[in-house]
Amino acid sequence: MKDDDLKNAIEKLELENIKMEHVSKIGEGAWHNVYKIERNLEKDLVLRIRKKIAYGQLQAYKEIDLITEYESSKVYYQQANQCSFNICPSVFDYFLEESSVFTVECFMGKGKILQCLSDSEAFTIGKELGEFFKVMHRKNPDIQGFGNIIWNGKYLEGKVKQETNYIWQKDNDFYLCILNSLTTSDLTFNREIVENKIVNLIENRRKNVQKISLVNQDVTPENIIFNIDNVSLIDPFPRLDFDLKYAGYFVFSYKFLLPAYSNASRYRKHAYNQNSSILNRIADGFMNGYISDNENLYKCLLDEYILWILLEAYEHYETLIESELDPKTLQQMGDKDMIKNRLTLCLNELENLSLDNSFTFFNKRGF
Ligand SMILES: Nc1ncnc2c1ncn2[C@@H]1O[C@H](COP(=O)(O)OP(=O)(O)O)[C@@H](O)[C@H]1O
Ligand SMILES: [Mg+2]
Repeated sequence: MKDDDLKNAIEKLELENIKMEHVSKIGEGAWHNVYKIERNLEKDLVLRIRKKIAYGQLQAYKEIDLITEYESSKVYYQQANQCSFNICPSVFDYFLEESSVFTVECFMGKGKILQCLSDSEAFTIGKELGEFFKVMHRKNPDIQGFGNIIWNGKYLEGKVKQETNYIWQKDNDFYLCILNSLTTSDLTFNREIVENKIVNLIENRRKNVQKISLVNQDVTPENIIFNIDNVSLIDPFPRLDFDLKYAGYFVFSYKFLLPAYSNASRYRKHAYNQNSSILNRIADGFMNGYISDNENLYKCLLDEYILWILLEAYEHYETLIESELDPKTLQQMGDKDMIKNRLTLCLNELENLSLDNSFTFFNKRGF
């Protein structure tokens, strides 16, 4: 990161009278270097300067992709704030030039670090998030369509334009298709139990069409600011998809995905495996906030969790078939041995969940 990029951004924002001692680096993700700008009379700001190299590779300037990404964040922040006051930055803007790309938004606080959260704080934060996502998912999105969101030159739209029922049936067909790939593979797992479970689950799922909502595909703790009783969400990765499916994704991320991925270099520094009990409490709180005590909704959420494990197993299996891993996959998923081990973990979880009923899931997970 060159100082020049930072100075240039501050100039563009017409904040030249800000002294450099009021600008400090507060974080960094895979894509941005992040600075806080302290101001005397107005709210502090956050400047996110886009890295030119991400995942070890020089990133080409692709304007449409950048507009898509930042306009999606803007819309997500707006809708989120309508659902829960100030859960996301109320100001968000971005600047695009081939030589410099940056965003500016409100500073949302420092938050507690994950490992310092007590059991009850983790549960409370999870519950708050669950309650928020429930309202967020109920809202009709301003963006039409389904799937990945794209900027068409004038406005954002979902890439898929088919009718909801058709998309829903396709979604269900897809799971049966990946189930078939796994059961006809040479992998070792209890095919009969898993197949039975998934086929029944999908048969039931087909009848309960879910709602298309604006969902967030990146709910990792790096993008959540753990202010107790005032949690904030930043850096969303929105898409249009089914509500319960993505509530299940949150639970899946916190109970399984994050601990399971902590050996990959992208996630190693966060040591999520050492904090798995805190992540678990966040997920428990989330379920409590999202479903309250609706037994049927709980069952459906658990089914979605199982389907995410199935998808994860399939993606690991597919990745192993490839002769060489690209640098991004290597960083995010790890080497072939790590992928093999994680695949075994997925298959074990899938078998256990196919045997268990939801009651044991409750207990095993400390709900
Ligand atoms: N608006 C904000 N308020 C407070 N902290 C922030 C804000 N935006 C980013 N950060 C901090 O910077 C880190 C990286 O920011 P992020 O936007 O997630 O980067 P990336 O896009 O590379 O993932 C976050 O984990 C958080 O600690
Ligand atoms: Mg991030």
